[in-house]
Amino acid sequence: MKIRRVNPDDAQAVFDLFCEVSAEGNYPARASPPSIETFKRALVQVQANDWPKYVAEHERLLVGSVSVYPDSFCRPGGDSRLGYLGMQVKHELRGRGYGTALLQALVNHCRQSGFDAIELMVLRSNIAARRLYDGFGFIWVEDMPACTLGSGVVDYPLKMRLAL
Ligand SMILES: CC(C)(COP(=O)(O)OP(=O)(O)OC[C@H]1O[C@@H](n2cnc3c(N)ncnc32)[C@H](O)[C@@H]1OP(=O)(O)O)[C@@H](O)C(=O)NCCC(=O)NCCS
Repeated sequence: MKIRRVNPDDAQAVFDLFCEVSAEGNYPARASPPSIETFKRALVQVQANDWPKYVAEHERLLVGSVSVYPDSFCRPGGDSRLGYLGMQVKHELRGRGYGTALLQALVNHCRQSGFDAIELMVLRSNIAARRLYDGFGFIWVEDMPACTLGSGVVDYPLKMRLAL
């Protein structure tokens, strides 16, 4: 297992992983992934601003990704010390510690670069992700309105927060 900082050359592989996990239909509430151009632009910003984004490699293939984007990047007037987390590990390699290793690298980076807190949305049904976040000390903030997943199943996102 290798955990490393992302770089702009990873855009296609990060995009492919995001699409693959999206296509499972069980996780992100959004119906379709952003475009590859959006990923490319975001990775340029990540590098220029030293934002936390890490990838995991298995046999030289990119198999996991985690990122925190500042609230101020996500919406005008947002808080630059609050980060929003997203992560994915390739289906066949889940449960082998990649998620834990990625999240550890990310939390360390967030602490060192002055973030006050990390927030995320996780579906109530997503037991693996909730176990991972619980283990890092994320706490429940609020229940969000029900959403329909790509698979057609109705689920309930929870907002969680880790104070740093
Ligand atoms: C959530 C995710 C990133 C975790 O990655 P991972 O590589 O499987 O994580 P790890 O192997 O480090 O395991 C993390 C914890 O989840 C638990 N876990 C993993 N798979 C599990 C499963 N199928 N059921 C229950 N718990 C599970 C592990 O036991 C571990 O908990 P522990 O430390 O208390 O033993 C991965 O499952 C994934 O990509 N899921 C799809 C996308 C997603 O849910 N993204 C997050 C959206 S908020």
